[in-house]
Amino acid sequence: MRIRLCGAIAAVAVLVAVAATAGPANAASCPWMNTSLSPNQRAQLLLGAMSLSDKIAMTYQQYPMDYHYGAAGYIPGNTSLCIPDLVFNDAGQGVGDAQTGTTAFPAPIAQAASWDPSLQYQFGAALGQEARDKGIDVQLAPGMETDRVPMNGRNWEYMGEDPFLAGQDAAAETAGIQSQHVIVTLKHYIANSQETNRMTDSSDVDQRTLEEIYAPQYDTAIHQGGAMGVMCSYNRINSVYSCENPNTLKGILDGQFGFTGFVVSDWGATRSTVASALNGLDIEMNVTPGTYYGPSLQTAVEDGQVPMSTLNDMVLRILRAMFTVGVFDHPPAAEPQAFAAPATTPDHVALAREVSEQGTVLLKNQDAILPLSRPGQTIAVLGPDAGQAGAEDEYNGEGSGHVPEAGIALVVSPLQGITQRAVGNGDKVLYADGSATADAVAAAKAADVAVVVAGDSESEGTDRSNLTLTGGICTLAGCTPQTVDQNSLISQVAAANPNTIVVLDTGGPVLMPWLDQIKGLLEAWYPGQEDGNALAALLFGDADPSGHLTETFPASMSDLPIQSASQWPGVTESGDSVGPHSSYSEGLLVGYRWYQARGITPLFPFGFGLSYTSFRFSNLTVTSTSSGAVARFNVQNTGLRAGAEVAQAYVGMPSSTGEPPNQLKGFQKVWLEPGQTKTVSITLPETSFAWWNTAGEQWVVTPGNYTVSVGDSSASLPLHATLSRTAAQLPAGAY
Ligand code: BGC
Repeated sequence: MRIRLCGAIAAVAVLVAVAATAGPANAASCPWMNTSLSPNQRAQLLLGAMSLSDKIAMTYQQYPMDYHYGAAGYIPGNTSLCIPDLVFNDAGQGVGDAQTGTTAFPAPIAQAASWDPSLQYQFGAALGQEARDKGIDVQLAPGMETDRVPMNGRNWEYMGEDPFLAGQDAAAETAGIQSQHVIVTLKHYIANSQETNRMTDSSDVDQRTLEEIYAPQYDTAIHQGGAMGVMCSYNRINSVYSCENPNTLKGILDGQFGFTGFVVSDWGATRSTVASALNGLDIEMNVTPGTYYGPSLQTAVEDGQVPMSTLNDMVLRILRAMFTVGVFDHPPAAEPQAFAAPATTPDHVALAREVSEQGTVLLKNQDAILPLSRPGQTIAVLGPDAGQAGAEDEYNGEGSGHVPEAGIALVVSPLQGITQRAVGNGDKVLYADGSATADAVAAAKAADVAVVVAGDSESEGTDRSNLTLTGGICTLAGCTPQTVDQNSLISQVAAANPNTIVVLDTGGPVLMPWLDQIKGLLEAWYPGQEDGNALAALLFGDADPSGHLTETFPASMSDLPIQSASQWPGVTESGDSVGPHSSYSEGLLVGYRWYQARGITPLFPFGFGLSYTSFRFSNLTVTSTSSGAVARFNVQNTGLRAGAEVAQAYVGMPSSTGEPPNQLKGFQKVWLEPGQTKTVSITLPETSFAWWNTAGEQWVVTPGNYTVSVGDSSASLPLHATLSRTAAQLPAGAY
C-alpha cells in the first residue's frame, strides 16, 4: 500500500516533529524494568498496570505512514509506563523507506543464492545495527514466501522456491537482526504468491500443501531463529483474509508453532475489528490510522464483542516480543539525531560486496571464457544497465523493499567497477548503453570480449506478464517496457563478437533465446550498491563465483508449473464478489518438485551454479541417529583455484507418501583450496522423512526405504544411499 517517496528532499519533507521518545527506564516506578525477571513475567507485570486506553494504544498505527521520521509505522511509547516507541521500517535489502545514509545490500533473492546462513546472519546483524542507529526497533523483514509463480513481482524480496532453504536463511537473518534488539516481522504470512489482485485474491490451497510448502520456513524462523513478529498478508487464504484467518493464525501459527510474539497486519491488510482480534491479529497497520483497531477496538471490548482477555493477550504478545528482543532495555537511537545521522559503515559496504559476490550465480562458462585473466584485452561494456544511468533501475527492485532512497550516488555501476579493475590488468574498456544498437555492435567488434549487462526492475504491486526479458521498469503503478530490446541487443552483440558474456540484473528467471550464442552468463540479481565492484571481482577472478540458484530457470513458459489462468492470476468464482481465486492446484509440485515429477528439463535447475574450479563428491554414508539421520560424504576441489561448493542433500520418500521425487533437506557451503578434500556432515532430523497428514493433524513418517541423494544441484546428484525408517508421528510444529 506504500506510496514510495523518492530522494532526500522527499525524505526530509516527511519529517514531522513528534512526541518525544519514552524517557529512560525507571526501575522504581516501572518494576517490569527489573531484568532479573523473565520477558513473560515482565510483560505480565506491565500489562497489569495498563488501563484500557493504554492497551488499545499499543495495537494500532495512530499516525499516517512516514509521519515518524520517514518510517513506515509508528506506535508512540508511554513514558509514564517506561514503554519505548515502536518504530517499524522496511527492510529486505537494507534499511529503506525514507531513511538515508543506509547501506543498499543485495536483494534477498541474491542473499539466498549464497546458500550461506552464516553470511545471512551477518547481513541480519548489519541490518539490525543500521536500524537501531536510525531509531528503528521493528524491521519489516525477512520476506520468505515460497516462489510459486515465477512472474510474481515480489519474488526478489523472497528467498526462492524451497521452504527448507528459505527457513534456514530466514532463521539466520532473524537471529542476526534480533541480536541488535530489533524485532523482525516474517512476511507476508501466508500463501502470498502474486501481486495481481493482491488485496482481494484468494489463494485456494489444500492444507497439506500449505503445511509442507508454505509454512515450514515460518516454523524454522520462529523455532530456530527466535522470531517474535509476523506480518499477515493482503491476500485471502481459502476465501478468508489472512489477517483474520483462524486456520493460519490460530491454527498453524499459535496452535502448531506455539508462536508467542505478535502478528502485525500488512499496511491495509486488516479488514475487520472483531474477527481480526478474535482470530489472532495483534496490531493493525493501515494507511488510514485506526480504521479497525483504535477507537473501534475499544468499543468492541467495552461492548463485550472482543473479550478483555483477548485484548490482554494481544498486548501481552507485543510486550513479550519487546522484552524478549531487548527493546525496553536497549531502545534504538533517539530522534531527531537518528534520522539525520548516517548508519552505513565501511564494514557494511564490504559485507554488501561479499554478499553480492557470493550470491551471483555463474550459469555458463563455455571455453573457460571467465575469468578475464589475460592482460591487455579490450573489453566492451554494453547495455542499458551497465552505466550509472541504468544503475538506479538494476541495483534493487521497486516498492517498499527499495533502498536507499538517496543512495544512487553511492552505487558502483558495472561500468565503473569494471573500468577501475581493468586498469590494473592493462585492459582497455569501451562503452555503449545499447540505445543505438549500431554503437554497441561497433564496440563489440572492436573488442576482445563483450560484456552485456541486461536486466529489469520488478516491483511490489505488479506481476510480470511473462518471463521475457523486457527490461521493463516496474513500479507500484505498473510496468513500462524499456526502449532497448535487450534480447535483440544481446543477439546482435553476440553475432559481432563470439566472446560475449551476459550479466543479468533481474529479480528472477528470464527466457534466454540467445543462450547458445553467448559464452558466459552470470545472474547477479539486484546486487545492491557494490554492484560494479562485486561484478568486477567475479569477472576478473578475484572472487570465485559460488552462488547457486534458489529458483528454477525454465526453458519456456509452457514448462512452468503454472499452466492455467485458474492457477495464476486467478479467476472469478460465482458467488464471491470480493475478488478472484487462484487455485494452488499444482499442490506440492512447486518449482523443482514440478520439473522432476514431470520429467521436464529446465534451462537451469534449482541449486545449480558453476565455479572457476571443479569439485568431486564421494563416499556417501547415511546413518540413523536417535533424532533422524546424518549424511556424511567427501567433497574435493579437483581444480586449480580455491572455491566454494554448495553441497546439497535431497530426500526421496516412498511413493506411497505421494511426495515429490526429491526434496532438499540439508545443505552446506564448503570452502576448499585446490586439491583439498573435506568430509561434510549433514544432519537430517526425523522431519526430513515426514509428510503432513491433514486428517491426523501431524507429521508422519511412513515405514519404508528412503533415498538420500547428494550433489551440487537438484539435477546433479551423483551420490545416493538408502535407509529405512519405521513409522513415526511427530507433533505439529516439529518441522
Ligand atoms: C508492503 C509491505 C511493507 C509495508 C510497509 C506494504 O505495502 O506489502 O511489505 O512492509 O507496505 O511499507
